[in-house]
Amino acid sequence: MLHKKHRESWKSKIGFIFAALGSAVGLGSIWRFPYVVGENGGAIFIVLYLICLVLIGFPVLIAEILIGRTTQMSPFGAFDIIGKAKRWAFSGKMTIVTGFIISSFYSVIAGWMLGYLIQALSGNLNQFQNPSEALSYFQALSSSPLWTIGFHFLFILLSICVLFSGVRNGIEAGSKVMMPLLILVLLFLVFKGLTMDGAKEGLTFLFSPDWNEITPKAILMALGQAFFTLSLGQGTMVTYGSYLSKKEDITGSCIPVVILNTVIALLMGVAIFTIVFSVGMTPESGTALIFETLPIVFSQVSWGWALSILFFFLIVLAALTSEISALEPAISFLIDEKNMSRKRATLLIASGAFILGIPTCLSFNLIKNQTLFGANFFEIISFISINILVPVGGLLAVLLVSWRWGMKNAFKNLGEKFTQRRPILAKYFFISMKYTAPALILLILLDLIRSSL
Ligand code: PHE
Repeated sequence: MLHKKHRESWKSKIGFIFAALGSAVGLGSIWRFPYVVGENGGAIFIVLYLICLVLIGFPVLIAEILIGRTTQMSPFGAFDIIGKAKRWAFSGKMTIVTGFIISSFYSVIAGWMLGYLIQALSGNLNQFQNPSEALSYFQALSSSPLWTIGFHFLFILLSICVLFSGVRNGIEAGSKVMMPLLILVLLFLVFKGLTMDGAKEGLTFLFSPDWNEITPKAILMALGQAFFTLSLGQGTMVTYGSYLSKKEDITGSCIPVVILNTVIALLMGVAIFTIVFSVGMTPESGTALIFETLPIVFSQVSWGWALSILFFFLIVLAALTSEISALEPAISFLIDEKNMSRKRATLLIASGAFILGIPTCLSFNLIKNQTLFGANFFEIISFISINILVPVGGLLAVLLVSWRWGMKNAFKNLGEKFTQRRPILAKYFFISMKYTAPALILLILLDLIRSSL
């Protein structure tokens, strides 16, 4: 298994930061974050989310990057080497499969965004009178198998183009261009939002917490969001860590990723809610927030056409850098363990993700009503992967580091004299990796079992 051949690596620390940030910022931060904030009380949810990032997100991210960086292997080999047992290697494999499954339906949703970008370009998104009109428009598009499958296919093709070029010239170079571009577009949208009439109301909703609104559901949603947004629990960060050179400082590379990811999500919140309040809409529109309300916004403001194009362009870029990060663990597994070339591995995995994504495409039209326990194919596959496999994968990674390998080894590999140089950080990692993060993840899983009984 351990044939050593030249392994790809990031060119620089900044390259790693952009790639990891590209993975983190995606549909989760741009499409999901605003609507869960809207549904869970606004500012108070943001406070809970920040607490979860500190207690779970950051420590699990460090654990995953550390596993990858130390072993310089895909999650399968990495879990195997550190866990020194078959069952740990199996856990590593499970995280790879999780990433692959997620990539299959993530691409379908991202495909809608690509489809909407084309709609925006054709000037179709800035002429609606009310949200129900916008919703029917979305339903008309997504009820066509050709539309959903076609854009899923195109999005996979885009991902292949980036992945073909490898770690440095594809993922790193792509993220380095796409992330700053995305931040630029986002800043423009924030500026637009802040200069609208309801800006103040939007900012109050986002930033002045009402402590009475804390609910158990909001806490769980905040935990889930912290996990998903950092691309944890499914091999991505282990794989990205494996391309990080041993001389780079892990904590120093990860802190900017977490901070920037949070700032981008918050900016997105500002952009969305200043606009939503300005046009007199409610913040609780749920998953349809983008498709139902934004086209109305585009129709009401001047420059709506340009804004709609910019907006969907931004989401497509963000989703692309995330999609490639969900596919990469499986590709890296085939390169490491099966000695496959990058091109072949990419084609194989991406075709697999395309095929597995087809039933998801059809879940919005042809097989919408074919359900098992009341849920259709997409609902089942996304629930199993995001709500079960991802938390389990993250739990395994952090347990592997803190209990199986031991914190002593972890600190040794985090950097020379880590505990002496960074005593506070070391204490925080010790407590969070060993106790708080695993306990809280278990809590999410238990609540899940309770609520589905
Ligand atoms: N972090 C991504 C987002 O916020 C989601 C993702 C998870 C992407 C796992 C890749 C892998 O959209």
